[in-house]
Formats: sequence, structure tokens, C-alpha cells
Amino acid sequence: MIGRLNHVAIAVKDLDAAVATYRDVLGAKVSPALDQPEHGVTVVFIELPNTKIELLHPLGEGSPIAKFLERNADGGIHHVCYEVDDILAARDKLKATGARVLGTGEPKIGAHGKPVLFLHPKDFMGTLVELEQS
Ligand code: CO
Repeated sequence: MIGRLNHVAIAVKDLDAAVATYRDVLGAKVSPALDQPEHGVTVVFIELPNTKIELLHPLGEGSPIAKFLERNADGGIHHVCYEVDDILAARDKLKATGARVLGTGEPKIGAHGKPVLFLHPKDFMGTLVELEQS
């Protein structure tokens, strides 16, 4: 069911420092920062030849990654995103196996303008999983 690894998201406390590390130390191509108020994050995309890294920084009150950063003072891997051909079919198949879909269970438009869903980390070896329609 799952296809390509679309991205790995890393929550960071200091976005400028994280950008500098990826750009200047690791020599990666880094996008400008993009505010996504509907998701409570500011995102920077790092384009790698085979996938992307997303740096996530909290935006506004009640950001979904604020708590994660309280627990992970240095930042850390927040989720992995896999592509699926049909997000509704994937959701229904997963729910039938007992996997928990977060939120309302209805896809939201994600950082790349495509429908996304999140799956409960307890059902996937402690890792928050995002599915994105490819
Ligand atoms: Co993501």
C-alpha cells in the first residue's frame, strides 16, 4: 500500500540555526520558511535527491509540535510521510485493521497542497506516520 518516502519531518527549536546547519554544514538545498497557520507550524523544506526533510517550528499558540519540543529539548524526528495512491482507500483499509487515524479521520490539505492523514504512533512502533496522496 505505501509507496515512496515523501519526507521525514524534524521538529526544531531554533529554525534559523537548523537552516544554517542543513545549508552550511550539510550543504543541502534549503527553501525559504513557509508559515502554515492552519497547521500551527512554520516549515522549511530541504530537497534531497531522493526525498525531502521538513524542518518544523511551532507557529502561534497551541502548535501541535510545541509539546513534542517540551519533551525533546534538542528537537527530533517528529514523523515520517509515506505516499499512497488513494488516501481514502488506504484509510479505510487501515481502520479495518484497527489502526487509529488521528483527528476527524478526514484528510486535510498538507504542506504540499495534497490530502494528508496522520496515524497514531502507538500503532506504528512509536512513530507518527503521515500519509500523503501521491
Ligand atoms: Co509532514
